[in-house]
Amino acid sequence: MKSEILALLRERGDYVSGQELCGRFNVSRTAVWKAVGQLKKEGFSIEAVQNRGYRLVQEEEVFGQHELESRMDTRWAGHPVTYYEVLDSTNLRAKLDAEKGAPQGALVVADMQTAGRGRRGRSWSSPAGTNAYFTLILKPDFEPDKASMLTLVMAMAVAEGIREACGLEALIKWPNDIVVGGKKVCGMLTELSVQQEYIQHVVVGAGVNVGIQEFPPEIADTAACLEEECGRRVPRAQLIVHIMKAFEKYYEKFMETLDFSVLKEAYDNRLVNCGREVCVLDPKGEYTGISRGINSVGELLVELPDGSERTVYAGEVSVRGIYGYV
Ligand code: BTN
Repeated sequence: MKSEILALLRERGDYVSGQELCGRFNVSRTAVWKAVGQLKKEGFSIEAVQNRGYRLVQEEEVFGQHELESRMDTRWAGHPVTYYEVLDSTNLRAKLDAEKGAPQGALVVADMQTAGRGRRGRSWSSPAGTNAYFTLILKPDFEPDKASMLTLVMAMAVAEGIREACGLEALIKWPNDIVVGGKKVCGMLTELSVQQEYIQHVVVGAGVNVGIQEFPPEIADTAACLEEECGRRVPRAQLIVHIMKAFEKYYEKFMETLDFSVLKEAYDNRLVNCGREVCVLDPKGEYTGISRGINSVGELLVELPDGSERTVYAGEVSVRGIYGYV
């Protein structure tokens, strides 16, 4: 009920009487009073005036369960949302939840991770109070080899969510990174559980650098954060909600055909270095060519100097601009 009260107060932007709240949620005045008291304790600024009721005084976001729940205006992506102050990793938690029956669309969010996981067994620096770490549970009914395309769907959603939340031009560095101003602001990690060739669940995790922070030395040159890039506060819950909204839209479009062709144009428009020279860091040997965007299964096409085209599979390969990270 707390999230619903919050949503109603926010929507109204004015006083809502205790009587209306009681009627709406079918509870006693004491129950409303208690719920408001708890919200205030969590940090929400709610004014109570006799004969007028309660009013939410707009202040800085209180990132947490009720802020997320009260803003989540999606149909399924982000429902339910579960917030933790500290987790080892949202991906690990999401996998356990999925195994215990959490539905498609369930979202795990943390303020801090003690064992944030990056790609290729690396760790993901996850300090408290500043970034968005979240993992979405999906249970798609398709062959496991299609699951990597879900990372591309999330990439489009994160890029759009960032644009919506802070107006920044966010681009996709195929397949797992989002960049702003030539630096990485988000990394994604998709993990798959398969049994007898059927997908049990897929978890798609993303870590977005939001607040101004000191990055670990090994990423200091290539990492950036949204608040520094846009020069103002970026409310994390609103950012996550925008991402979920965009995810829902792109996922449904993708699921209509299970073919990435339907999203190719929109994806290529966001693809950093599309039409430019890139360097493919393939463990079997590096090569350069012109990035020609993705194909119908989400692989990157690179045109070689002799005019032939190579298909780059995600896996161990990484693609860079010829002058550095982007
Ligand atoms: C990478 O660029 O290496 C991928 C980083 C993915 C980090 C996110 S943070 C939320 C989710 N939980 C994790 O443990 N990892 C992902």
